[in-house]
Amino acid sequence: MNKPAFGHPDAYMGKAVSRYPQFFNKLAVDLPKGMDVLDMFGGVGLLARDMWDTLQPLTWTCLEADVSLKDKVVEPRVKFLHGDAFTTLLRADLYIIDPDRCTLNQIWKEQKWATLLNRLSDTGKHILMQEYGAYWCHLPNQIPLYEKLSGGERITRQTYPALFQRKMAERFDLKVLKSTQGLGSTYYLMEKV
Ligand SMILES: C[S@@+](CC[C@H](N)C(=O)[O-])C[C@H]1O[C@@H](n2cnc3c(N)ncnc32)[C@H](O)[C@@H]1O
Repeated sequence: MNKPAFGHPDAYMGKAVSRYPQFFNKLAVDLPKGMDVLDMFGGVGLLARDMWDTLQPLTWTCLEADVSLKDKVVEPRVKFLHGDAFTTLLRADLYIIDPDRCTLNQIWKEQKWATLLNRLSDTGKHILMQEYGAYWCHLPNQIPLYEKLSGGERITRQTYPALFQRKMAERFDLKVLKSTQGLGSTYYLMEKV
């Protein structure tokens, strides 16, 4: 069998990194209960399982590109839907963006990210997102990319969330309300400005 890709549930379930829902929970504590949740990179429903008590959702849909994960879902209350986060027109009260790869640099380079975030900034009420740029931004090949994005500043893991916050507001009218870091990622709670 091929080794599962980085960020795929087959690679991280059972490992320490699967404790990352604690960071989403930290950001979600004050969100309203009873929402319709669209978990756009739904995987096996790990976030649903570990956030259910915090959010007490009305519905939770896991949209997932890999249909084989349907049989591996760990939270029976979710609705599993085979689909593509970048093209879906499904609506919700809370959107969760937990992709296998995403950095600020990719958001700027890849049109699909701009399309997705523009669509959510039209319709989104609450957005929870994980992304990985802070983990890589100190590497020699990444430094110039983030210096360019920031307008000349040297970005570090500590200053990366502030850059992310500024760029989300500038380009997508999305306001970062809270952020936190852990297990190599940065996690954000955002709302449309
Ligand atoms: C980091 S995992 C998310 C895990 C999920 N939050 C959970 O609780 O199990 C990323 C998932 O996104 C899926 N994925 C990748 N591209 C996708 C796309 N365009 N649309 C929907 N799902 C996608 C991958 O197959 C993978 O299961």
